Amino acid sequence: MIMKKILFFALCGLSVFTGANAQDSEKSLKEAYKDYFMIGVAVNQRNISDSMQSSLVRREFNSITAENDMKPVSVHPEEGKWTWEKADRIANFCRQNGIKLRGHALMWHNQMCEWMFYDKQHNLVSKEVLFERMREHIHTVVNRYKDVVYCWDVFNEAIKDGPRNPEGMDQPLRESTFYKICGNDEYIRKAFQFAREADPNAILFYNDYNECDPVKRDRIYEMVKEMKAAGVPIDGIGMQGHYNIYGPSEEDIEAAVSKYAEIVDHIHVTELDIRVNKEMGGQLRFSRNENAKITEEQKQMQEVKYATVFRVMRQHADKMDCVTFWNLSDRDSWLGVNNYPLPFDKEYKPKNAYRVIRDFGNK
Ligand code: G3I
Repeated sequence: MIMKKILFFALCGLSVFTGANAQDSEKSLKEAYKDYFMIGVAVNQRNISDSMQSSLVRREFNSITAENDMKPVSVHPEEGKWTWEKADRIANFCRQNGIKLRGHALMWHNQMCEWMFYDKQHNLVSKEVLFERMREHIHTVVNRYKDVVYCWDVFNEAIKDGPRNPEGMDQPLRESTFYKICGNDEYIRKAFQFAREADPNAILFYNDYNECDPVKRDRIYEMVKEMKAAGVPIDGIGMQGHYNIYGPSEEDIEAAVSKYAEIVDHIHVTELDIRVNKEMGGQLRFSRNENAKITEEQKQMQEVKYATVFRVMRQHADKMDCVTFWNLSDRDSWLGVNNYPLPFDKEYKPKNAYRVIRDFGNK
């Protein structure tokens, strides 16, 4: 009897680790979460053209974000020059497969149309010129994808990192070229105003990383609260979710969602991944963990962190509309394959973390 039991559990364990094919008869992520929120993924061009990868996208996800192809520099590299091909391909994939598209991103200090900031002599333009260029860009992009894009990250990462100023007033804004030209936060307000004019039905997001860090969380909260009170059309907050196996803690994640839920009706986790080292956030300087092998302990810690994130988000399903993974598999990750940050491994096979998420594991 005891031997039978051991054999039974050993076989169950084995079936959990048998790779991509094993999931065919099982629930997908989007099915498992249908009563809670949508499950999204950021895609590149390969993910939507390779047949294995695109079936995985279709099977598991009901929301897509273009990882890079709808960003300002990708669609509008020069004044008067629009390059739509890659963004159109992603939009068409969504249209053909009935998948919703999260627009990412209308304005960002990175991958921005640098030309918008300068005149022909390479001097910074006036804020009036900048706003007119932003208006044209936002109206054109939003109008082109209005039929398929249900929400936009209107402004990305405008708040700075780091501690509060110990000597009085805290200047919360990133000192970007937008900020240099305007000297205050008017460029953020204008971006939301232009997006609302272009599509009154799209849900408009402010999106940022390190959003669970108490100092940055409060900066985001205060800015959005004040802008909403002044009539700026911000509908939602995007929590990027570039986390690691050590943090943020369940308490900090919970506190951030709860605070944001006080001031907006829509919250999305927009760029979820969980690295196996201590780095976090959206900054482009990170370690690729060259040649590092993931340990059993790190795998376990990653499963615990994924279970925690999804448990907290399920508890906030009234305002949480969508949780998006930033990339399809470890092979696609912007962090490189050796940070092992996603639920699908470099062969596109589900890891145990995938099952923990899908089966509401309470680790
Ligand atoms: O397109 C060029 C290509 O022409 C060139 O040959 C190649 C050589 O390096 O670079 C290519 O551009 C790269 C681009 O991705 C497209 O692949 C850039 O170097 C690379 O820096 C860029 O990285 C992207 C990063 O945003 C840029 O800031 C990542 O793929 C993308 O995942 C990442 O996504 C951001 C979110 O949009 C906002 N939140 C943070 C998140 C992570 O940084």
